[in-house]
Amino acid sequence: MRPLRPAIVLLCLCLWLCLAGAAATPALAADDDLDAALDRVIAVRGLEPFEAPPLVVTPKFRLGQLLFFDPILSGTRDVACATCHLPGRGTSDGVALSLGVRAVGLAEQRRALDTERVHPRNTMDIWNRGHPSVRNMFWDGRVSEIEAPVSRFQTPMMDYLPDGIESVLAAQALFPLAGEEEMLGLPHDRSAPDLPGGHGDKPNEIAQAAAGFDEFEPQRFVAVHDALMRRLLGQAGTPLADWQIAYRRIIASAYPDMLLGAVTMGDLANALGHFQELAFVTQETPWDRYLAGEKDALDAAAKRGALLFYGKGRCVACHSGPLLSDFQFHSLAVPQIGPGIDESGDDRGRYEATRIPRNLYQFRTPPLRNVTLTAPYFHSGAVKSLADAIALHLAPPAAARNESAADALRRESFSPKLRRGIALTEDERASLLAFLHSLEDAQADSRALIVPESVPSGLPVPALDADG
Ligand code: HEC
Ligand code: HEC
Repeated sequence: MRPLRPAIVLLCLCLWLCLAGAAATPALAADDDLDAALDRVIAVRGLEPFEAPPLVVTPKFRLGQLLFFDPILSGTRDVACATCHLPGRGTSDGVALSLGVRAVGLAEQRRALDTERVHPRNTMDIWNRGHPSVRNMFWDGRVSEIEAPVSRFQTPMMDYLPDGIESVLAAQALFPLAGEEEMLGLPHDRSAPDLPGGHGDKPNEIAQAAAGFDEFEPQRFVAVHDALMRRLLGQAGTPLADWQIAYRRIIASAYPDMLLGAVTMGDLANALGHFQELAFVTQETPWDRYLAGEKDALDAAAKRGALLFYGKGRCVACHSGPLLSDFQFHSLAVPQIGPGIDESGDDRGRYEATRIPRNLYQFRTPPLRNVTLTAPYFHSGAVKSLADAIALHLAPPAAARNESAADALRRESFSPKLRRGIALTEDERASLLAFLHSLEDAQADSRALIVPESVPSGLPVPALDADG
């Protein structure tokens, strides 16, 4: 910065004193003052722009990409990872609670054919999850990376986790495949009769393989993964379909040093993880450009919002670190909608994974880049707008009349970090919104380039067309 001449400084000071004297409240800080204040925040917090890893298309990336978009991975052959994680919806799906098997349509058009089979939670976005600060997965963190020497990953598969899992993101990919309402379906389901490529009216041999096990038995996942490998690669003694031959070729080129018979679902999960960590990264959001030194990447409202986020708004108490999440668990007492997770239809968040009472109703702090693209919000999708999502943080919920015991517990779990309440004016809330908008990657939509034109199975690729 150029040193200011003392005369100018004096003039500005006089002018400011006059203005401040004239108005009861101090005038809003000028842009330069906002930059100076933000510079201090950036220095104190050590904030740095998010560096996207370069996109290098290797055979392993390509394998992960095809698997991510191929509905053949689901029991009923009609749900891919991308059915819920749509690039055209900020890698989420635009609905409150996600709908996997036994549903039709995409994004806001998606409808359940069977209302009993709605997934109990809101689809998470998957931006930047290859970043080293991401140590756990899911709203309740039930898949996580822990310190040696016990075992590298803590997951519902316990000791049955396949060997060689490369990242927590790869470990995560093993689980939607075995979720009844996500991709697995039920043993008596059949694929829709009108599916192309010889995939119509097929039994769900994958769910059948899981049928003998308890829902939470680790071996159940092994049975699902083995059945899925048999589906993808075909079996000795039965003629191979063209698409199975294609998968054999693509897998062999991704893992040239392995015998095909030795490739496991763990290797495919690694490819899925690798694809996601390179494909779904935010690039040069206005906030990251600002952090890189481009002072006019943000307008004054967004700068004020950033100061509130890291200051009076206390958002940084939880939305901290490079991805604006501490990856810890807190309760905002978000209302429960949908079927819930436990028998009573409730979702007690982290408690479901740990059974530790202080974890009741706590959910993992969501990272916030591209949050503008992923409404509705919160673990249950109960809130439609970002403004309402912010508002819900600002005051502890009041007791309702005839409140159930569960609702009272939920209310009492409200995070101590927020219990005193945060008073923000309308203007301040609008500034916070402007800051959240500055976390959006303007190119995110065109990242649809990573959507393949077709997948080996010949099944339709779940993708939104240009207008929707
Ligand atoms: C039916 C919709 C659906 C399908 C299909 C689906 N997901 Fe998800 N995904 C979700 C929901 C819902 C969550 C949050 C679940 C929870 O917290 O219990 C989630 C969470 C995730 C996360 C965790 C992100 C984080 O920050 O913790 C990743 C990564 C992910 N999914 C990747 C995948 C991959 C890879 C596939 C395919 C193998 C897949 N998903 C299939 C709905 C879906
Ligand atoms: C006590 C920790 C904490 C603080 C402080 C906090 N948040 Fe959150 N935030 C969370 C948690 C936890 C969730 C998810 C809650 C759930 O789904 O049940 C969340 C959710 C959100 C969401 C919705 C994201 C999504 O993908 O669904 C937004 C937006 C958000 N917070 C913004 C803010 C802003 C802005 C502030 C400051 C005014 C703030 N938060 C302060 C913990 C916190």
